[in-house]
Amino acid sequence: MDLKSAIRTIPDYPKPGIMFRDVTTLIGDARAFRVAVDRMVQPWAGAKIDRVAGTEARGFILGGAVAHQLSVGFTPVRKRGKLPHRTLIEEYELEYGQDAIEIHVDAIQENDRVLLVDDLIATGGTAEASIRLLQRAGATVVGAAFVIDLPDLGGAKRIEAMGVPVSSLVQYE
Ligand code: PRP
Ligand code: ADE
Repeated sequence: MDLKSAIRTIPDYPKPGIMFRDVTTLIGDARAFRVAVDRMVQPWAGAKIDRVAGTEARGFILGGAVAHQLSVGFTPVRKRGKLPHRTLIEEYELEYGQDAIEIHVDAIQENDRVLLVDDLIATGGTAEASIRLLQRAGATVVGAAFVIDLPDLGGAKRIEAMGVPVSSLVQYE
C-alpha cells in the first residue's frame, strides 16, 4: 500500500513556505493506519523494546498504537507545563519556532530499552530533545521510528549522529 497517498499536504501552514504534512488523513483511514503501525514496528521486532515513548501530540497516537502492538508500556513526552508530577525538561528549536518538552522523572526504569515514536522528523530538534530527556531519565534509546522523514532538513542524520538508529516509512524532498 502507498502510504504517501494517505497523507495530505497543506501549503503555507502554519507559516508561509512550510509544506505541512498532515497525518490526520492517514490515521483516519483504517487500512492506512494499520499498515503504517505494522511497518513502524517491523524494523524493531527483534530489538527487545521495553517501552515506547511518543512526543506530543501526534506521537501519542502512533506511539500508543506501536506500544500496544509490542505489548509494552507507553511514556508521554509532553509540551511544557502539562505533566502533574515532578519532571525533567529540555528546550529545543522547531522548523517553525521554539518549545520545551518534559517527562516525569520516574517515567523510565534504569536501562529500559526505549523506542521513540513520532509522526514526522524534520530538523530533528524535537527528537533530539526527547532522546536527551529519555537518556537523562536512565533509558537506553534503542531507536526512533517515524512515519515521515524530511531528509533535506537533516533530522535523521542528526539523530543517527547521536548513536540512535532511525526508521521512516515515507520521505518528502
Ligand atoms: C511536529 C511533529 C514533530 C516535530 C518535528 O510537531 O509532530 O514532533 O514537529 O519537527 P522537528 O524534527 O523539526 O523537531 P509540532 O511541534 O508541530 O507539535 P504538535 O504535534 O503538537 O502539533
Ligand atoms: N513538523 C515540522 N515540520 C513539519 C511539516 N513540514 N509538516 C508537519 N509537521 C511538521
